[in-house]
Amino acid sequence: MGMLEGKVALVTGAGRHGGLGQAICARLAVEGCRVALTDIGEPQPLMGVGHIGSSAEMEQVAAGLREIGPEILALPMDVRDEAQVEAAIAAVVARFGRLDILVNNAGIGYLFSPIMEMPVDFWKAVMDVNVLGPFLCTKHAARQMVAQGGGGRIINIASQAAKSGHPHLAAYIASKHGLVGLTRTAALELGKHGITVNAVCPNHVTTGLGAVQNEYYAKQAGITVEEYLANMRRGIPLGRVGLPEDTAKACVFLCSAAADYITGEAMNVSGGAEMH
Ligand SMILES: NC(=O)c1ccc[n+]([C@@H]2O[C@H](COP(=O)([O-])OP(=O)(O)OC[C@H]3O[C@@H](n4cnc5c(N)ncnc54)[C@H](O)[C@@H]3O)[C@@H](O)[C@H]2O)c1
Repeated sequence: MGMLEGKVALVTGAGRHGGLGQAICARLAVEGCRVALTDIGEPQPLMGVGHIGSSAEMEQVAAGLREIGPEILALPMDVRDEAQVEAAIAAVVARFGRLDILVNNAGIGYLFSPIMEMPVDFWKAVMDVNVLGPFLCTKHAARQMVAQGGGGRIINIASQAAKSGHPHLAAYIASKHGLVGLTRTAALELGKHGITVNAVCPNHVTTGLGAVQNEYYAKQAGITVEEYLANMRRGIPLGRVGLPEDTAKACVFLCSAAADYITGEAMNVSGGAEMH
């Protein structure tokens, strides 16, 4: 019997092999959750073409998850599009009868630039996915959770970037700080409905997104990716970079009864790399 038996979860940005979303869906499924995994559907301009999930990849990820167990639903949903968000939540409720857990995981972070050279389009593209998206998903998931009663869990995948700055990533850093602000305000508003809202703040994980960051910063420093990662490991008290599974386990904890009294938190999952 899993810890989340009978619960229904929707995870955004989960249609990519090796991403945090895939690991979160897998852990939720292992704990008995019925899971709707969603992703953008098709690559879009200004988002790092070649680094964004596709419907075909999402279907492959879903097929892998179905081997774990309970029902898995795969849905294209661009988190920036309110009509798509509403339709996806309605589809989840039509299929599973309810929605108990939302994990706002979709995010982009490939648009590197010093502030003095950053095009406004970069800024807006990152904000739209990383802040507008979680706002829209929270708005409509919360409406469903309140209407059905019985509380709920909302988890925002923020980042170490929600706690500290980093050069050439101003939009990403500002977006993740903003996501923590959304977390705290939603926790205030939704507490009376028994809905907890928390953020998880992972440090570096070499996913598709993480790999692009490794290449960029290694090139900037004139070192190899392996040297860059070795330098990073030296700054992490637990001596390794993060794994998708680390974030997935934190999400399951926040969804479990053990976290009933935790809301409005921005929890580091960083091997000690981030401590505030
Ligand atoms: N990898 C890291 O080092 C790291 C560290 C901390 C936080 N994060 C955060 O974790 C989350 C997952 O990132 P990841 O590292 O697994 O990268 P990833 O690229 O594998 O996953 C991001 C997913 O978001 C999807 N996506 C992008 N725009 C979307 C949109 N408009 N609508 C729906 N889906 C969209 C992508 O298709 C992709 O599947 C992100 O929010 C990221 O900022 C990552």
